[in-house]
Order: sequence, then structure tokens, then C-alpha cells
Amino acid sequence: MAKCILVTGGAGYIGSHTCVELLSRGYDVIILDNFSNSSSRIIRRISRIAGKSPSLVSIDLSNKLATKRFFSTQPKLDAVIHFAAFKAVGESCAFPLKYYENNLFSTINLLNGLKMLSKPVKGLVFSSSCTVYGQPALLPVTEHTPMAKAQSPYGYTKQVCEEMIHSSSSEIGFPTIALRYFNPVGAHASALIGEYPNGTPNNLMPYITQTAAGKREKLTIYGNDYNTEDGTCIRDFIHVCDLAEAHFTAIKRLIDKKTDDPYEVFNIGTGKGISVMEMVNAFQSENNIVLPYVIGPRRDGDVEKIYADTKLAETKLGWKAKLDIRDMVRSAWNWELSLLRANKSFYLSKKG
Ligand code: UD1
Repeated sequence: MAKCILVTGGAGYIGSHTCVELLSRGYDVIILDNFSNSSSRIIRRISRIAGKSPSLVSIDLSNKLATKRFFSTQPKLDAVIHFAAFKAVGESCAFPLKYYENNLFSTINLLNGLKMLSKPVKGLVFSSSCTVYGQPALLPVTEHTPMAKAQSPYGYTKQVCEEMIHSSSSEIGFPTIALRYFNPVGAHASALIGEYPNGTPNNLMPYITQTAAGKREKLTIYGNDYNTEDGTCIRDFIHVCDLAEAHFTAIKRLIDKKTDDPYEVFNIGTGKGISVMEMVNAFQSENNIVLPYVIGPRRDGDVEKIYADTKLAETKLGWKAKLDIRDMVRSAWNWELSLLRANKSFYLSKKG
């Protein structure tokens, strides 16, 4: 019988790509989402790509009672991936309590709910972030690089959730794999799913694609006076489909009972630093587009450069990124084009 994976936040950007990967690999999937930052129409698109449909449970995980009610039905689950969280760095600085309430309560309620199951799950994959490292003194960052003070309430919630899950691992009674993503970009090759941020994008890639599409006047590159080759910041951009595959690999590791520790951490990046300017140039040349941009002042809270040491993910988890910068910029643009072709109607009302 197919193993069943509960995916919280499965209708979101990384969640939807991961659901496609899991369904295509033969798993059953239950998506638990409140569609606060996604559309229920995404479910049909996931089914279309994967040729198999996920089940859908529409509840807000930060609602203790609703979560308890869901788990009291004793759903048959083999493992869980926990994506459901708010993730906009700037918004988290303006509304820290909103972030603490949503991201922390959701995680606590999920863990308590999982404890109610008479047949425990084989494990949990937690969606973490390289933000937990802050600006590291040494590059590339390994999983042993100490966490620095969080640069935003969003980053702090990732640190606290990791700590909460880690310290309660013997109480919850199943292992966890925390995946620390670097900078996810790109979209599925079908252009049926991709990133669609609420309002003005904070992140680089959606800002680039929306500018190219004429939705934004120009891109501002935040600073070209950093201590890097071209003066712009350096990030480890990773294709969202590679990231989805990393989740499949982590789930398989849990289901096959291959973990060495009740709490494992892996960096999920390409191991290659790419500057903001390089990304802009790659987007222009690969898609044959002239992108209007200006150089602006540095953005508060930005780290100068960060990229992953991926050795542990390669040797222990058995996963390595395959897609390159050209795949990233091409797929991101194709996704934006598909939104334009759909006359912007698909996501504009995020509720399905
Ligand atoms: C941030 C978070 C990361 C999170 C990611 C996705 C931190 C330190 N990092 O990454 O954990 O996973 O968001 O939500 O909190 N840039 C421009 N112009 C723009 C937008 C961005 O020049 O219009 C530059 C930024 O200055 C930065 C780079 O592009 O140097 C990447 O920025 P962004 O895409 O926002 O991601 P991070 O801040 O690296």
C-alpha cells in the first residue's frame, strides 16, 4: 500500500512542487492548508502534473482546536512535511507578533496533534532556512556553523521551531530532518505551478520576473559596494524542483528508518555562490530580455554573502542539486509568462 505523507502548507510555493514530487513517486499525499497565501485551485494543477490527486484538508494549524479535531480522526499517516508558515522577512519586522503566533503555534499544535496518533509517524521533515546562520564568519556554511542572532522575527521563528522540535524529539517519539534551504527560485517545467507572492515581491526572482512582465517599473539592486567581485550580494540560489526532490529523499530516509540521530540537519543548496548581478545578467541573456534596473542603497538586514557546504547532503542524505542557473531563470520566466497569458486571473484572487 502507498505510504501517506501529510504536507502542511502543501499549496504554497515549495509545498506544491514537493507534492508533485511525492505523488509522482507513488506516495499518497494529504495537503493541510488554510490558503492564507495560496489558492485552492493549485490542487487541480498539482493533480494534473502528477497524474494523481492529493487529498485536501482545509484548516488553520495555528487553531489549536481545529488541529486537535483533525488528529482525533486518527488519519493514517506515515510521515509529515511541515511547510505551513509565514515567510516574508520585511512583513515579519513590521508585524512580529503575527509571525510568532502563526509560525510557533502551528508547529506546537502540529507536534501535539502528531502525539495523539495511536500509530506514530515515522518522522517529520521541517522546512528550515539558511537564515538561521545570519552572516557566517566562514564560508561555505556547514551544518555545524553556529546559529547567529536572527536578523528578523521570521528568522527567529525558524530558529525557535528548530529548537522546539529538537529538544522535544524524545517526547514526540519520532525523528526529524530539518532542511535548511538557501534561496529557492524557479518553477516547475510545466509552468503550471510557481511562486506568486502577495503584493510587491520582497525576493529577487519574483521582482525580476514581474519587472520583465511590465508589472513593476524597474528592479532595484540593493547595493553594489559589497566586498564581492561585482559588488553585489552573493546567494546560493537553488531550483525549487531540486528542493522538492530533497524533500522526497528526506522522507524516504525517515520511512526507511535510515536516520542516525533523532534530529538531523542538512543544508539544501547548490554549494555555489551567485551574485545578484550575475542572476540579473543570466535572466537577460537566457530569456533574451532587457531588464530595467537601477543600483540602490543596501537593504537593511542583508548578509553580504552566503552559500552552502553541501557535502553532508550529498554523502549522508544522498541528494545533490542538478539544475543550474539557466534552468532557474528560464523556468521562472516561463511561469511569469503563463500568468500573463492567463490574464492574471488565476492567482489574483488567492481564494479558489
Ligand atoms: C530571505 C531570507 C531567507 C528566505 C528567503 C525567502 C534572510 C537573511 N533570508 O533571503 O531565509 O528563505 O528570503 O523568503 O532572512 N535583492 C535585490 N533587489 C530586490 C530583491 C532582492 O537586489 O528587489 C537582493 C537582496 O538584497 C539580496 C538578494 O537579492 O542580496 C536575495 O534577496 P532575497 O531574494 O530577498 O532573499 P534573501 O534575503 O537572501
